[in-house]
Amino acid sequence: MKAAVLRAYGGPENIQITDLPEPIPKPGQVLVRLQATTVNSGDARVRALDVPAGMALPFRLAMGWHRPRQPILGTEGAGVVVACGEGADRFRVGQAVVVFPGGRMGSHAELITMPQDGKIIAKPATLSMQEAACMMFGGLTAVDFLRRKAGLREGEHVLITGATGTVGSAAVQIAGILGAVVTGVASAGNLATLKDLGAETCIDYRLGPIALPLRPYDVILDCAGTLPYPQAKRLLAPGGRLIRVWAELAEMITAPLIGRRAGHRVIAGVSAEKREDMLTLAEWAEAGLYRPLIDSVTPFADIAKAHRLASTGHKRGSAVVEFAVPQTPA
Ligand SMILES: NC(=O)c1ccc[n+]([C@@H]2O[C@H](COP(=O)([O-])OP(=O)(O)OC[C@H]3O[C@@H](n4cnc5c(N)ncnc54)[C@H](OP(=O)(O)O)[C@@H]3O)[C@@H](O)[C@H]2O)c1
Repeated sequence: MKAAVLRAYGGPENIQITDLPEPIPKPGQVLVRLQATTVNSGDARVRALDVPAGMALPFRLAMGWHRPRQPILGTEGAGVVVACGEGADRFRVGQAVVVFPGGRMGSHAELITMPQDGKIIAKPATLSMQEAACMMFGGLTAVDFLRRKAGLREGEHVLITGATGTVGSAAVQIAGILGAVVTGVASAGNLATLKDLGAETCIDYRLGPIALPLRPYDVILDCAGTLPYPQAKRLLAPGGRLIRVWAELAEMITAPLIGRRAGHRVIAGVSAEKREDMLTLAEWAEAGLYRPLIDSVTPFADIAKAHRLASTGHKRGSAVVEFAVPQTPA
């Protein structure tokens, strides 16, 4: 099989398409031939060792010194089951599925094995393979932070920065599904997209902080990293929650203490990756409520191009990468 292998932490040129032996599913595993995957902000950060200040050393120790011990990046994908290991009977050969190896990575390869009771679900019929491939990274992050960690409720007002990126575009839709009133912040060229995603109020961040209204928000989801608590404080309602999707190590550690005297809560850290949330996202997709936003689709052979896009920090939705569909023998 062909896989995109990272030779060393660094730029997209360090990714090399390599021929590797095909994996064989172990008992309880299924083998999936991927049709699409993504290069997301997480892949770009791991590739470049672009981690929060204070995290480089622990990251190298945990993940690998010169390159990740798992050199095939990729946290998500969609494809078709091509083999089932012994005792794996939850999925059948030929079934379309969505996989989320998440932190285990490995979806930048034509084939991937997944435990049948792991993060693999049936593909929602309403989504294309390309859409299904990018429904999880932003979706799972948004569901976990908005619903589980911040407890966003119907009727609450939420402000979302980076609102047309992968996480932000999922969050705008999910906040709407949860019944919240959404204000989104994006660059001028993305405001129409933001409106289409369901934001009631759309703000151009290039106008600066003056453009932010002084209305109090119950929840702020800061995907762009531009609203640390000192700046966000004036925008938070009593009992308001600030979610810092990207935070330095010191902020992650001190988050539970920040803002307490003002009656606020600051949430930072890594989002949970739960199969039950994958099923929820699939239900919403089936119901026509959730459709992930695609920036562009790149052939797998050009995956370095998708890495370059992901590293800009200015994607509009996801950088999808498409595998060549193998020709069936005559
Ligand atoms: N904690 C976790 O578990 C977790 C999980 C997933 C992601 N993350 C982090 O969350 C962040 C967002 O991820 P993503 O995948 O959504 O990234 P993305 O797709 O690259 O989107 C980034 C967004 O930020 C906006 N932006 C860039 N510069 C800005 C600025 N100066 N002011 C305001 N907005 C700006 C961009 O808007 P324009 O294109 O309009 O400029 C874009 O919408 C990343 O830092 C990522 O590492 C954390």
